[in-house]
Amino acid sequence: MSIKLGDTAPNFQAVSSLGDINFYDYLGDSWGILFSHPADYTPVCTTELGYTSKLQAEFAERGTKVIALSVDEVEDHQNWIKDINETQDTHVAFPIIADKDKKVSELYDFIHPNASATATVRSLLIIDPAKKVRLIITYPASTGRNFNEILRVLDSLQLTDTHHVATPVNWEYGDDVIIPPAISTEEAREKFPKGVTVIKPYLRYTPQPNT
Ligand code: BEZ
Repeated sequence: MSIKLGDTAPNFQAVSSLGDINFYDYLGDSWGILFSHPADYTPVCTTELGYTSKLQAEFAERGTKVIALSVDEVEDHQNWIKDINETQDTHVAFPIIADKDKKVSELYDFIHPNASATATVRSLLIIDPAKKVRLIITYPASTGRNFNEILRVLDSLQLTDTHHVATPVNWEYGDDVIIPPAISTEEAREKFPKGVTVIKPYLRYTPQPNT
């Protein structure tokens, strides 16, 4: 199944390092991050999971639950987590799905046969509280992802869902934001009391509304 932005993220039951999980029950009303990695006991994955664990407070601040996946056995996950905690100086508290039968990987298209016939690639989805898929990225096995970028996308999604704005290139929380083309400049001046800067009729900025 090929999942696209705006699709409903499919539910599943799975075995995980923290026991059996129903994906929707795990997410509840939170935002969610579901990410796959190629294999346990591999160096890049060790750094990715360790760093994600260190960001737990950041994810919690954004009302977001994290869940990882690879096609290894649950006992491997549990033993590898001890290594991650030791080497990355953290305490992994989120579940890692043991997708030995590849049921979830196939559901979410995490296996790209021309990259690897057996291992999952580095895919990551952001799922909103309505269970809609809002971000999909896929990286090769040899390139660790930038999880600070995932926080930045969460900030952008949560801001643009609440306020009628968009975020420009390399935007960081607190920077000026973009007024979408659907809003006239006259309307924008009423809607955004902090001010409107017109560079071109289609390129207009306003200070971030909620700061
Ligand atoms: C790693 O996580 O280090 C890794 C996994 C598969 C291929 C290359 C690197």
